[in-house]
Amino acid sequence: MYHLENRMPKTGTTAPLRKNSTKTAATPAAAKNRSKPGGVAAQNSSKPAAPPAAPSGSALEIKDTRTSKTYSIPVAECAIRATELKKIKTDDPNDSGLMSYDPAFLNTASCRSAITYIDGDKGILRYRGYPIEQLAENATFLEVAWLLRHGELPTQQEYDQFVHDITFHTYVHENFRKFLEGFRYDAHPMAMLNSSIAGLASFYPSARNIFDETERNISIIRLLAKTPTIAAFSYRHVKGLPFVYPDNRLSYVENFLSMVARMSESKYDANPVFARALEILFILHADHEQNCSTSAVRGVGSSHVDPFSAVSAGVAALFGPLHGGANEQVLRMIKEIGSVKNVPKFIDSVKSGEGGRLMGFGHRVYKSYDPRAKIVKRLADEVFQVVGVDKDLEIALELERIALADDYFVSRKLYPNVDFYTGLIYRSMAFPTDFFTVLFAIGRMPGWLAQWEEMLLDKEQKISRPRQIYIGLQERPYRSRLTKS
Ligand code: ACO
Repeated sequence: MYHLENRMPKTGTTAPLRKNSTKTAATPAAAKNRSKPGGVAAQNSSKPAAPPAAPSGSALEIKDTRTSKTYSIPVAECAIRATELKKIKTDDPNDSGLMSYDPAFLNTASCRSAITYIDGDKGILRYRGYPIEQLAENATFLEVAWLLRHGELPTQQEYDQFVHDITFHTYVHENFRKFLEGFRYDAHPMAMLNSSIAGLASFYPSARNIFDETERNISIIRLLAKTPTIAAFSYRHVKGLPFVYPDNRLSYVENFLSMVARMSESKYDANPVFARALEILFILHADHEQNCSTSAVRGVGSSHVDPFSAVSAGVAALFGPLHGGANEQVLRMIKEIGSVKNVPKFIDSVKSGEGGRLMGFGHRVYKSYDPRAKIVKRLADEVFQVVGVDKDLEIALELERIALADDYFVSRKLYPNVDFYTGLIYRSMAFPTDFFTVLFAIGRMPGWLAQWEEMLLDKEQKISRPRQIYIGLQERPYRSRLTKS
C-alpha cells in the first residue's frame, strides 16, 4: 500500500484546484489525438490495438435485389458506416433508405474509443494499452483513474497533485446527511447512491458548463472523491451508525474503509490485505469499454447534461442483475444452493431453464475466461488465507468445476465473469450483500468519466438517438372506448 502522508504536497487542508491540471490531455487537440489509433496512447504501445487497416479503397459491394442496383460501401477499421446504408433505396418516394437492425447492439460500434481494448475470444483486457494483469499487480487505483482519462500514466508530480485534489474534495455538503436520512432503514444502497450522485448536480450548477475544461476537471475530481463518501454514508445509514467523515491522512481505499468501518478508534487502521484486495478490485472494475452502464453514461451525456446526471444513469444501469447487480445475485444463488451436494441438481435446473441463469457466468464480449475473473479468483485465495475458507467458496468452486466441464456451458462459451468471485471476497470483508454493486460503482467511476469526456470531445458524436422499425398500427380515427362521457 502506498501512504498518502508521504506523497501528498503539504499544503494544508484547502483544496486549490491546479489550474490546467489536465492541460496535457484535456484540450480538444489532445483529445482528438487520443481518439486516433495513432494517438498518444498508441504511440507508446509496441503494437497499436486498432483493427488491421483495410487497404485504401476497400469497400463492401451490395446488390439490392429489389432494384438490381449495386452499391459500394467503404470499409474502414473493420466497419461500414451505417449511414451509408441510407443511400440504398427503392423508387418509392416514402422510402427513406435502408437501416441496420441491431437490438441490444450485438454488432454495432457506437463510437471510436482509445480507452479500453478487449479481445473477448482471447480473454485480453487492456487500459490504454496496458494489460489489466500488470495494472492490477503494480498500479494504484488513482494511477489507473488518471491513466484512463489522460491516456498516459501520471508522472510523480501529476500523481501527487491528483491525489491531493481528490483527497481534499472527499467531503460532501452537510445537507447530504438530511438527504440520506430521508431514506428508509432498508433502502437499497444502490438506490441511495444513484439518487445522491444525481443530487450532486443541484450542489454544483456550474458543472453544466461541460465544454469549460476547468469545470469538467473539478466535476471529475468531485465525482471520484465524493462517491466513496456517499457510498460509505449509505452503508452507515442502513446500519444505523453515525456517519464517519473522511480522514485526509489516509489513502483513497483506506479512507473508504475507515468511513465504512471506523467506530470509536481515533485513527482507523485498515487490514492491509483487505485494503490492497479492494484496490485491485477497483482497478479491475475501472473500465470495460461500451458496456451497458458506460453506454448509458455516454447516451445520457450526449444530451449535454451535467456529468453528475450522466453518471447517475450509469449507476442505474449497473444496478441491474444482468450487469453489476450480478455480484449480489451470485451470493444469493449460492445461499439458495446451500451445500456442495446440491450443485449438480442446481446446474440441471439452469440447463432446463427452470432454475434461471447461473449468475456470474457468461458475458456478451468474453467467449473465454474473463481475465478479470482469473485475477479475482487468485485474490480470493489470498483473502481467504486471512479469513479462512467457508462453505460458500466451496459451492462456488464446485459450480465452476461442473459448469466448465458441461457441454451446455462449453458449447455456449459460458465462463465465469468478474462477478462470480467478487461477492465472496466482499462478503469475507463483512460487506453486506446489497452493498456489493456499490463497490463495483466506486471502481467503475473513472471509466464512466473518461468515456463521458471522450464522447464530449469527439467531433463525430451527436445526441444519441437510435432509429426504430415501427411495427404498430397504421393511422386510425379516434373512437372513445370509455363508457362515461
Ligand atoms: N446461465 C445459463 N445460461 C446462460 C447464461 C448463464 N449465466 N448466460 C447465457 N446463457 C445462455 C442463454 O440462455 C443462451 O442460450 P440459448 O442460445 O440456448 O438461448 C446463450 O447462453 C446466449 O445467451 P445470451 O443471453 O444471448 O447472451 P448475452 O450476451 O445477451 O448475455 C449476459 C450476456 C447478460 C452476461 C448473460 O450471460 C447472463 O445473463 N449472465 C448472468 C448474469 C451475469 O453474470 N451478469 C454479469 C455480466 S459481467 C458484468 O456486467 C460486469
